[in-house]
Amino acid sequence: MKFDIRYFDPVFLDEVSEIENRSFSVPWSKTSFEDSLKNPLIDFYVAVTESEEGKTSVAGYILTLTVSPECEILNIAVSPEFRRKGIAEGLLNFVFEKAAEKRCDTLMLEVRESNFAARSLYEKLGFYAVGRRKGYYTNPIEDAILMDKSLS
Ligand SMILES: CC(C)(COP(=O)(O)OP(=O)(O)OC[C@H]1O[C@@H](n2cnc3c(N)ncnc32)[C@H](O)[C@@H]1OP(=O)(O)O)[C@@H](O)C(=O)NCCC(=O)NCCS
Repeated sequence: MKFDIRYFDPVFLDEVSEIENRSFSVPWSKTSFEDSLKNPLIDFYVAVTESEEGKTSVAGYILTLTVSPECEILNIAVSPEFRRKGIAEGLLNFVFEKAAEKRCDTLMLEVRESNFAARSLYEKLGFYAVGRRKGYYTNPIEDAILMDKSLS
C-alpha cells in the first residue's frame, strides 16, 4: 500500500496516541511522545496514507534512539486498520537506512515474548534473539526478548 514517511509533527499527536492506546496494554502517554521530541538522540517518524478523497491519516509510527554505533527501536505500531500491508516493514527499512547514514552497525529492540506478530516481523527483517529480560513487562508480567540486527 502507498504511504509517505514523514518526520513527526504535533498535528499527528492525537492519531498517534489513538493507535498507541489500541496497540499496547501499557501505552505511552501523549506527554511521553511530546517529551521524546526534546531528546535530540530520538527520531520520530510517521507513515501517512492518503485516501482517494485526499484525506490523510497516520497509519503507523516508529521512534528510535541513536547512540552511534547503536540504534534502539523504542516504539513501533501500526493502526489495526492498516496492518499486514507492509507499513511496519516500510518504517523499519527506512530506519535501517537512516541508522546506516548515522554510522550505526547494530539495531536493538525489546519485544514481549508472546508478541508473535512483532517477533515474526523482526525475524523477517534480520533481527535475532540475543537475550531475555525476566519479568520486564507489566499488565501482564512477561519477559522481554532482546533482539539485535547487524547492519554491517
Ligand atoms: C507488529 C506490527 C507493528 C506489524 O505491523 P504491520 O504493518 O502489520 O506489519 P507488516 O505488514 O509490515 O508485516 C511484515 C511482516 O511481519 C510479519 N507479520 C506482521 N504481522 C504478523 C502477524 N499478525 N502474524 C504473523 N506475522 C506477522 C510477517 O512476516 C509480515 O510479512 P508478510 O505480510 O509478507 O507475511 C503491528 O502488528 C502492531 O502495530 N502491533 C501492535 C504494536 C506492537 O506490538 N508493536 C511492536 C512492539 S515490540
